[in-house]
Amino acid sequence: MREWTREERYQVLESPEQIRGLHEAIRKSAWRQTYHVQPVTGLSSDPNGFAFHKGVWHLFYQWCPWGAVHGLKYWYHVTSPDLVHWKNEGVGLAPDTYYDNRGTHSGSAISDGEDLYFFYTGNHRDEDWTRTPYTCAAKLGADGKPVKREKPLFGPREDYAEHQRDPKIVWNAKKQRYYIFIGAQTLDGRGTVQIYSSKELFEGWTFEGQLHLVGYESFGGMWECPYIVSIGDKDLLIFSPQYTKLPGRGESTNHNVYFIGKMDYDTLTFTPEGGYHHLDHGFDFYAAQGAANVGDPDKAILIAWIGLPDNHYPSAEEDWEGSMSLPRELTIRDGHLFQYPVPGVKELRAEELPAGNPSTDGQLVKGTLPKAGEMQILCGGGDLKLHLFEDADGKGALEISYDDKAKVLTVDKSGMKHRFNESVGERLEMPLLTPLKKLDLFIDHSSVELFANDGEETFTSHVYPEAEDTGYTLEGTAQVKLWRYNASVKDDFAV
Ligand code: FRU
Repeated sequence: MREWTREERYQVLESPEQIRGLHEAIRKSAWRQTYHVQPVTGLSSDPNGFAFHKGVWHLFYQWCPWGAVHGLKYWYHVTSPDLVHWKNEGVGLAPDTYYDNRGTHSGSAISDGEDLYFFYTGNHRDEDWTRTPYTCAAKLGADGKPVKREKPLFGPREDYAEHQRDPKIVWNAKKQRYYIFIGAQTLDGRGTVQIYSSKELFEGWTFEGQLHLVGYESFGGMWECPYIVSIGDKDLLIFSPQYTKLPGRGESTNHNVYFIGKMDYDTLTFTPEGGYHHLDHGFDFYAAQGAANVGDPDKAILIAWIGLPDNHYPSAEEDWEGSMSLPRELTIRDGHLFQYPVPGVKELRAEELPAGNPSTDGQLVKGTLPKAGEMQILCGGGDLKLHLFEDADGKGALEISYDDKAKVLTVDKSGMKHRFNESVGERLEMPLLTPLKKLDLFIDHSSVELFANDGEETFTSHVYPEAEDTGYTLEGTAQVKLWRYNASVKDDFAV
C-alpha cells in the first residue's frame, strides 16, 4: 500500500487538469461500478447534503481527489431525477476558507421549497495541526453550486473534546424550530450528540444541551454522522459509534447503528424501544444519511458509504476506492425497520438471464453472474449454501450460507482471491427475525448488497472478483432468478 505524506494528502486541487489523468486511468478498472455512485477520482466516503429540491435529488460525498487516502476533503456533487440515474456535477464545497482550510467535512441539507440549505463541518487546523471544528452553512446558488455563508454559524464548545462534527439539520413542527444534531465526544471520551436550535436557518443558533439516549450514556467514544427522522408515529435515530467493539462484529471498532423510539425535544431525550440494532450486517457500511424533503411521512430514503474509516480496499492499488450504497426506502412495520432499494432500481433490469433449474432436495444449481445485476432467491425451506464469483474450477468464492434452525445467515469472504481488511474479520453473521423466504442480491462490479425477506435485514460488502470469476453455485431448496442491469451512473469527468 502506498504511503502518503501529509503534504500529498492535503494538497489543494487547483485545476481539473491535475486529476484528469487519474480519472482516465481508473475508468478502465474492472471494478468500476455501473449503477452505484462512486468517486470521480480518489476516495469517496460519507454521503452528505442529501435532499430533494425543486424536482432534483441532490447528493454529495466526502471526496479526497488524490487517491485512496483520507486527506483534504471536498463535497463532490451528483444529481438525479429518480435516485437511480446519477450525473456528476463537480465540486460542491471546497476547503477554501480559514474555517474549513483542512476540509469541508460531513453535513446535511434541508429545503424550504425556495432554497436548499447546507450545514457542514469546517475542519480548521492551525500550523501545529490543532483542530477547531466550525459549524458552517451554505445555500444552493442560481448556478447550481452551493454558496457559503461568510461566517460559520458557531464554533466548537470548550466543554467537549475536539470531536464535534457532522451537523444534521431537522425542522420540528411542534416546536416551530430548526434543530441541529452534532456528533460529539465528551471530555471524558464518551460518544454523544450536541443539540442546537434556532427559529431561522442562517441565524440565531443556541446550544440546547446534550442528547439523552436512555441506557446509552457510555457507548463508544464518538458518534459520527447522527441522523434523525420520523417515520409514521416513531422516531428513528441513526449514528456511527466509534472506538468500541460490539458483539458479533469481529474486530471492527466502527459501526452504524439505529434505535427506534421517541424523541422529546423538551427534554432532549430519546427513549428507545429496546436496544440498538445494526443498520446493516455487512463488512462495509457506514455514515448512513437520509434524504431531506422526501415528502412522505411514512418513509425515509437512506444512503450510506460502502466502506469503513479504517479499512482499505484492493482498488487502492489503482488509486481509488469507495462507493455509495443503493438508496434505500425505510419503513417501520410492527416496530421493526425494513430497508429495501428504491423501486426505480428494478427498472434497470435489462434482460433476464438463464439461472439453472429450480433446486429441490439439495440439488446444485450452477450459473453465471452478470457483472451488474440482480439475483433473486426464493427459498423453499431448510439450509442454503451459495457461492458467488467462483472461478472455472469452482474456487475463490464469496460464501453465503443460511442455517435454518438458527435463522442465521453467514457471509464468509475469506475464500475470495482478493482478500482485504482480514484483521477486522472476514466472516459475519446476520440473525433474522423470521425464517429466510427470500434473498435479493444487488451485484455491481465491486459490491454486493443482500436484502433478506424484503428488507427485514441487510448485508452490504465490497467484493473484488477477477474479471473472469463469474460462476455461482447454490445448494439447497430454492428457485433462482437473475437479471443483468443497465448502467445508470455516468462516469464522466466533471470537476
Ligand atoms: C465519518 C467522518 C466524519 C467526518 C468525515 C471526514 O466517516 O469521519 O465524522 O465529518 O468523515 O471525511
